[in-house]
Amino acid sequence: MDLTKYYQSFISYLEQQDFNREPKNLYTPVDYILQLGGKRLRPLLTLIACDVVSGSFDKALPAAMAVETFHNFTLVHDDIMDEAPLRRGKATVHEKWDVNTGILSGDAMLILAYQYFENYEPVVFQKLAKLFSKTALEVCDGQQLDVDFETRNDVTIPEYIKMITLKTSVLVAAALKMGAIVAEANDETAIALYNFGLNLGIAFQLQDDYLDTFGNPETFGKQIGGDIIENKKTYLYLKCLEIANKEDQEKLQFFYNQKLEDNSIKIIEVTRIFEQNDIPTLIQNLIEEYTQKSFEDLKQLNISESAKESLISFGKNLMTRKV
Ligand code: IPE
Ligand code: IPE
Ligand code: MG
Ligand code: MG
Ligand code: MG
Repeated sequence: MDLTKYYQSFISYLEQQDFNREPKNLYTPVDYILQLGGKRLRPLLTLIACDVVSGSFDKALPAAMAVETFHNFTLVHDDIMDEAPLRRGKATVHEKWDVNTGILSGDAMLILAYQYFENYEPVVFQKLAKLFSKTALEVCDGQQLDVDFETRNDVTIPEYIKMITLKTSVLVAAALKMGAIVAEANDETAIALYNFGLNLGIAFQLQDDYLDTFGNPETFGKQIGGDIIENKKTYLYLKCLEIANKEDQEKLQFFYNQKLEDNSIKIIEVTRIFEQNDIPTLIQNLIEEYTQKSFEDLKQLNISESAKESLISFGKNLMTRKV
């Protein structure tokens, strides 16, 4: 699928936005994080969805901008919560400025995101705002569960899947549905695109968790091992705990019950235990499973075969991403 046209349109719309406002200490971080790049996955999905339904995508640009602004807001607050030093290869907002700046600039981005809906007439506006509010609350629910799980020792894999559905995949799904809403698609189409995004989003977060431990530190753009440091109950950890021998289980539990100053040994040891238990292969299999499930949802979709093929190739490319 040639994403260039969507990507270029989105970037040029983004560049037209003027975040060079006062007070500088509020808006400079907004501009910083939005200009830092990233894959622009969610806005691309909004544009693609609008295009496959209606044959054009320009009118979805404000909705795409809303979703990307919201996503960047969640990243700024997430990096505070996860104590993350690096984002897209650069200092996180709270590292470059401070935590208070991250909180307020994040809040401003959430409001700015909603303002983009003012570009739509009332019926579309209401549908977008309703979906967005529901989704944003679900993301909060997911983020809270993610944090709660750090200090719980009895998290199950179904609970983990529920958590990543909330914190990540509902936004991917909503990004697609927003494109459908702008295109004034029928409910069936909007729902099928949403479900496609839901499964794709789960695969996407599984891949994020995989890369957090096994990504290339030169190119990943985030701190490798951050999830291990924070005792995140990812699939890597939960599956390993399920299948490992007693000795590895005990080591894993020992490491995940503490927060350390120096994490180098913890990261090396936990990574080794994951590898010895073949966890990289197991998570790749699950990523493939959810990606395949997402393709099943496309069967319900009343769009051209070539548009379906495009969405399938988009999904397949996500599976092999390195960032
Ligand atoms: C990071 O999202 C947060 C997750 C939900 C995994 P992305 O991986 O889409 O981040 P960028 O926008 O491309 O940097
Ligand atoms: C982030 O999950 C989900 C949201 C930002 C809502 P992660 O904490 O895994 O995302 P990264 O790895 O920091 O990008
Ligand atoms: Mg994080
Ligand atoms: Mg997080
Ligand atoms: Mg992550």
